Amino acid sequence: MITKIYNIKNITTYDPTLDKIVVEDVDSIIIKNGRIIKIGLADEDLIINQEIDAKQTIITPGFIDSHTHLIFASNRANDFLSRVSGKSYIEIAESGGGIKSSIKSLRNTPKDELLNRCLKDINNIIKAGTTTIEAKSGYGLTLEDEIKSLEVMKDLNQETNIDIVPTFMGAHDFPKEVSDKDDYVNLICNEMIPKVASRKLAEFCDIFCEKGYFSHEQTKKICDSAKINNLQVKLHVDEFEDFNGAYLAGELKAVSADHLMKSNSKGLRHMAKNGVVATILPGTTLFLGLNTYADGRKIIDAGCDIALASDYNPGSCTIYSIPIIMALSCLYCGLSVEEAFKGVTYNAAKAINRQNSIGIVRENYFADLLFWDINSIAEIPYWFNSDKLSMVMKKGKLV
Ligand code: NIG
Ligand code: FE
Repeated sequence: MITKIYNIKNITTYDPTLDKIVVEDVDSIIIKNGRIIKIGLADEDLIINQEIDAKQTIITPGFIDSHTHLIFASNRANDFLSRVSGKSYIEIAESGGGIKSSIKSLRNTPKDELLNRCLKDINNIIKAGTTTIEAKSGYGLTLEDEIKSLEVMKDLNQETNIDIVPTFMGAHDFPKEVSDKDDYVNLICNEMIPKVASRKLAEFCDIFCEKGYFSHEQTKKICDSAKINNLQVKLHVDEFEDFNGAYLAGELKAVSADHLMKSNSKGLRHMAKNGVVATILPGTTLFLGLNTYADGRKIIDAGCDIALASDYNPGSCTIYSIPIIMALSCLYCGLSVEEAFKGVTYNAAKAINRQNSIGIVRENYFADLLFWDINSIAEIPYWFNSDKLSMVMKKGKLV
């Protein structure tokens, strides 16, 4: 199957060889079996099966959301009510709301019901321009319920047009039934990770390394088990206070460290030195009613590559729209539009280790493309409702 896209205003993409965002006037894009095989004039003897009129739109790479907690069973509007009446996220968590209440509902929800709820979300997520999404387990916290969440991701991958990158996050919290925290860490290391890895249900392992959650020692132990079992490591660090998590992420050579709202410069420099992608999640700061946005300039000055993601979850961020996240990063984290755009395309691909197949518009990359009725990419965060997005293509297919 060969598809030709014509009548293109321009392609706007990050170019790794020039290390900048480029705007290219091109005649056409030729796609075969889901991948771009040619940008420019098609060879004359090529048999084209399908032609798509881009109608003078700008074509960009599909957005990559490299950090979500998509697999949850029910909403936490009650937490929102409590926060609006003055309670903090941590106080709600300590009084039995928060992650613990999502655990209760996920455990009580049958797999097919969970799948259907997530399917509805995915339709909206695609409409906002996301073509690849990372999703974490972490609302089950028993072997059985973590596996259930990861199996839902596998089914979603088959049933939808989006690619789902699965992350095991048994270390999201300590379940209320465990009395000794180290026993739970042992369960994660000795049973959950080996099982998840042997069934190839996850690519990454994520850990919530924060005061009151997983300590540095516990994080290191889980990370060791993940690496032995061929899972790559991601970390949640320094969300509520500076716990020196950024430094630890550097030490553990994590693929990414995420949140970084309170990280210190030494830790950030250690991340940069060890090639850890810095993922910032400004939707969470907004949704929690805080003003402690991650400092994008400080992170870039430390030498890190910045990815932007939604953190979509029922407690701390219900925003899944990447254009909104881009707008927040420009307004509150000090990023330029170009840095935000790179953060949701090329650097986001790096954060899930897919920088050789998605995240830019180039030959041999998958044809994950967005068609925008705009004059420049500044209009993406500017019109952040995504209503200027006229078509979404995943692996060469309009969705
Ligand atoms: O990234 N920090 C930990 N996990 C999520 C929140 C999950 C929840 O509240 O359900 C986060 O913000
Ligand atoms: Fe998160």
